[in-house]
Amino acid sequence: MQIITNFIQNFAKKYASKTMQNSLYNSLRIDISDQNIEKIPDPAKNYMLYMHVPFCHTFCPYCSFHKYAYDKDACKAYFSALRTEMRRTKEAGYDFKTLYVGGGTTLIDEDELLRTLELAKSLFNIEEISCESDPNHIDPASLARFRGLIDRLSVGVQSFDDEILRKAARYEKFGSGEVLREKLSKAVGVLPILSLDLIFNFPFQTKENLLRDIAMAKSVNPEQITMYPLMKSPLMRDQIARNLGISSVDNEEEFYKIICDEFSSWHKNNSWAFARESSNIADEYVGANHEYLGIGSGAFSFLDGRLLINAFNLSDYSARIKEGKSTVIATCDFSDSERAKYIFLTELFNGEIDMAKFQSANGINLRKELGREISLLRLSNAISVEGGKIITTQFGKYLCVILMKEFYTGMDKVRATFKDDAKIKRAKHIAIMEEEVQNAQQIA
Ligand SMILES: C[S@@+](CC[C@H](N)C(=O)[O-])C[C@H]1O[C@@H](n2cnc3c(N)ncnc32)[C@H](O)[C@@H]1O
Ligand code: SF4
Repeated sequence: MQIITNFIQNFAKKYASKTMQNSLYNSLRIDISDQNIEKIPDPAKNYMLYMHVPFCHTFCPYCSFHKYAYDKDACKAYFSALRTEMRRTKEAGYDFKTLYVGGGTTLIDEDELLRTLELAKSLFNIEEISCESDPNHIDPASLARFRGLIDRLSVGVQSFDDEILRKAARYEKFGSGEVLREKLSKAVGVLPILSLDLIFNFPFQTKENLLRDIAMAKSVNPEQITMYPLMKSPLMRDQIARNLGISSVDNEEEFYKIICDEFSSWHKNNSWAFARESSNIADEYVGANHEYLGIGSGAFSFLDGRLLINAFNLSDYSARIKEGKSTVIATCDFSDSERAKYIFLTELFNGEIDMAKFQSANGINLRKELGREISLLRLSNAISVEGGKIITTQFGKYLCVILMKEFYTGMDKVRATFKDDAKIKRAKHIAIMEEEVQNAQQIA
């Protein structure tokens, strides 16, 4: 029996990863547009606001997030453009309860961030704000300025192991494991929630390393800890191999089990984020709110089954703001079934799905839209269905880790296309040619 279960679970892991790669990497139909695409709210819906701050002092070799090398003037001008986009979002009729500020390093210019968060609070009915930072912007005096504004700050640690920190090019920038622990310990308690981001499954990371990382993270006494699996998108793979090495063994599943055991008494916010106590704060902006509006360079919005992509290039972004034009440069429409799968995954990633609530909130008939996927998940013992709820098993949680990892990795392709102006021009050219061919076929 165990052999059959193993066989089905191996199949499910490969199937999950291939399906996600396929839908994101090969069949995302991105439409590059010169039209002025506006974002229009539906008064019946709740939206989350995402704001991107794309600046870092230096770059880490594993990270593919959209960012530029920090420049004081460019950063100030950028924040001012962000505030303009925020005011326009208000004028368009949007309101938000949650704001997630992602980066980059969002605390890189404290004065600008402060002004921008204050503006957000004055424009919208915002109840909670999350921000991300590196460990060089978390001294208690600076953080204290954000009391009453930032509710949750997640700080990138990645590892407390000096060898890994050196390979990840973070030792010189942010300090040794011990230095990090000291900095973080001082930051605890200044804001309501301090969350540490760690990465697991680095090449050559041993089980002992991992256990030590978890023990060190817990010793800081933060409210939350997130354990990301190392994500190696095809675009970053060579750089990761050059800097961090290549290992012939993949410990991801074994390490994930260890992590779940070590955090068994913690509350699971989602498959990779753990909290000492349960809270309602959104952990992953893609996970908690199905509809979100993104402002800033390279920000994504997901509105009404459509992904909207803001201009990546900083000068293009600010020119659009100055000229009063839409910041959207491309869209990607999801079919009803793709949308259903996306929402199902994000809810499953959060741990459980109340089937009746899910169906009425999303207008999705689970049996019709996702019957095959649900059967496969049950067959591979990834979920159980109890009292109208779909609940993930330990294996199911790991499957969600695989799927979410592939989702993030797949979004890299989108970022890579749009970061490079030459590629955008080429893609635009292809889109025009395709349209011309279609028109010619219709005429013929
Ligand atoms: C957008 S970064 C911002 C963090 C902050 N700038 C810093 O470096 O401390 C948020 C988190 O994403 C995670 N991350 C980035 N690249 C990753 C990768 N390739 N694999 C796994 N996690 C990654 C890291 O844990 C990082 O702290
Ligand atoms: S991990 Fe943080 S500091 Fe490093 S490049 Fe990514 S966003 Fe910048």
